[in-house]
Amino acid sequence: MNSERVERNLDAAFESVGVSRRDFMKFCGAMTALLGLPPVFTARVARALENRMPFVKERRPSVLWLNLQSCTGCTESFTRADHPSVAEAVLNMISLDFNETLQAASGTEAEAACEAAMKENHGKYILVVEGSLPAADSGRYCVMCGKTGETFLKKMAGGAACVIALGTCAVYGGLPAASPNPTDARSIDDAVAPAAVVKIPGCPPIGDVLMATIVHYLFFGRLPSLDSEKRPRFAYGKFIHEQCRRHYHFENAEMSTSFDDEAYRGGYCLFPMGCKGAFTKNACTVIRWNMGSNWCVGAGHPCVGCSEKDFWDKFTPFYALAEGRNPQ
Ligand code: SF4
Ligand code: F3S
Repeated sequence: MNSERVERNLDAAFESVGVSRRDFMKFCGAMTALLGLPPVFTARVARALENRMPFVKERRPSVLWLNLQSCTGCTESFTRADHPSVAEAVLNMISLDFNETLQAASGTEAEAACEAAMKENHGKYILVVEGSLPAADSGRYCVMCGKTGETFLKKMAGGAACVIALGTCAVYGGLPAASPNPTDARSIDDAVAPAAVVKIPGCPPIGDVLMATIVHYLFFGRLPSLDSEKRPRFAYGKFIHEQCRRHYHFENAEMSTSFDDEAYRGGYCLFPMGCKGAFTKNACTVIRWNMGSNWCVGAGHPCVGCSEKDFWDKFTPFYALAEGRNPQ
């Protein structure tokens, strides 16, 4: 296909989902910055994504999305990523072959679609897993089509090119694993070994971080650089506290102690009110929530450390200082 025709087709494809070329380039710029690549890479990221458009390459990378013991907040967060219409366009570049929440099929039909996608794309598909794995009572607290979540997960992970553990539940067990953990909920770690895993914790996780991870995979054909806990460095490289706009007040010991004092109204540090930003790694300060409009601490609420291991048990009560801990 000549380049002029490709351009025309691209414009039409973007237009069909309400995205202008300008929006698309803006999205590529944001993803490039988020991945920590120099701006010069923007055009190359755009070209790499364009090359994934269905009419340019017939086969789109297959993505299977498995929901285990979850509230579906991770799916919500992803579908409301910062660039929803562009996200839709990118979703058109992948083939979301199985997602119980978003797909029309259900029951045996959905299972058949999943089986077919696994067979057809064996060794090549990306598996996204949302939710924790309950081990109590032989896994009966998460059963689909008569099979336990663990059976499903092991089978699906066995044929995946890589597994993305999405959200604090899949990564660490999350809320279902909080004391007393009646279902013996746990992370998906043991069940997916030895597959290549990337972990994107958060309750919920930031949709754009998953998007950027997939963009990285489409662009480079491999996962982004990971830290020792297998989290993408571009999003979990720093503590919230280091990048917080209130850090200046922390340094000057200017603290808020209640939700209606003068210091609070002046935007002072929320540490005495239980902020866990000093113990939490995430990209909230940079990417923000709700179309980039704000984030927890920016809106005046202490960070509760939702992307950290065992945060429900370790960081509660949320409005009290984390005992015996010092800010990083
Ligand atoms: Fe910001 Fe919280 Fe750190 Fe204070 S303790 S500087 S509010 S992250
Ligand atoms: Fe979670 Fe703290 Fe961000 S509570 S959403 S990691 S500001």
